[in-house]
Amino acid sequence: MNGPSSLQDDPTTNPIRKRRGLRAALESKKPQRQPFDEYRRFVKDHYDGFAGKLTHVTGIITLHAVLAGRVFRPEAFDVRGAKRILDAGCGNGRHTRNILRWADRDAFITAFDLSQSMLRRARRQLKNNPRVSHLAADVTRLPYADAAFDCVVCCWMLEHLPDPAPGLRELARVLQPGGKLLLMVTEDTVTGAVCSRVWHCRTYNRQELMRVCEECGLEWHRPLYFTGIHRVFKLGGIIVELVKKGPVS
Ligand SMILES: C[S@@+](CC[C@H](N)C(=O)[O-])C[C@H]1O[C@@H](n2cnc3c(N)ncnc32)[C@H](O)[C@@H]1O
Repeated sequence: MNGPSSLQDDPTTNPIRKRRGLRAALESKKPQRQPFDEYRRFVKDHYDGFAGKLTHVTGIITLHAVLAGRVFRPEAFDVRGAKRILDAGCGNGRHTRNILRWADRDAFITAFDLSQSMLRRARRQLKNNPRVSHLAADVTRLPYADAAFDCVVCCWMLEHLPDPAPGLRELARVLQPGGKLLLMVTEDTVTGAVCSRVWHCRTYNRQELMRVCEECGLEWHRPLYFTGIHRVFKLGGIIVELVKKGPVS
């Protein structure tokens, strides 16, 4: 289950390499150009360094921090009722804060990230809140038991996997059947391709991602948008609520 699957290894089935045109030309090829272990080391160093420091500022300038916060309102992705929540690739902790704002008082949040520096930033932001625990981990090899969580949040992290399947399978494994997962990823638009250049990541095609999610046991429950304008003009990336398939106990 760990590491890239055959989808990435076989260049003839690689979704990025099959694309053509401006978006494909603009999109970063870094995730595809080196073995996964090497690329993951690069990503870790990237966020351990200056890029990681920038995430706070870019979140404010691009309005992403505020807009993403809207997705956590109860009428959008409702975290109320969940007691064991996972923030996957938590970065500087901004979504952990969003979760804490709406979650039940007795909910506990587990957050992990590849980068120790990002984890330090997250702990600082959250003032070492006792309702949150942080751990360094890679999404393709999670140190958690099956069905350990009833809710998972994974924002702008999956684009750092050349092949999403190993990460999605792990997130599905640690989520209990019937549990929900909020996924935000960069879409294969022109703006998405520009973002991929800046952050050295890939983008996703909505149909392709939907198919991989289904294959990993995650039902594409409903798309979400930052605002009505984003919904009409299909802006802001792919934001979706997924539900883990399987018998609910
Ligand atoms: C663009 S930041 C997003 C952070 C946060 N989720 C947010 O939306 O503000 C991407 C984060 O994913 C982390 N990351 C990248 N690849 C990862 C992996 N394989 N496992 C765990 N975390 C990873 C990076 O270290 C970085 O903190």
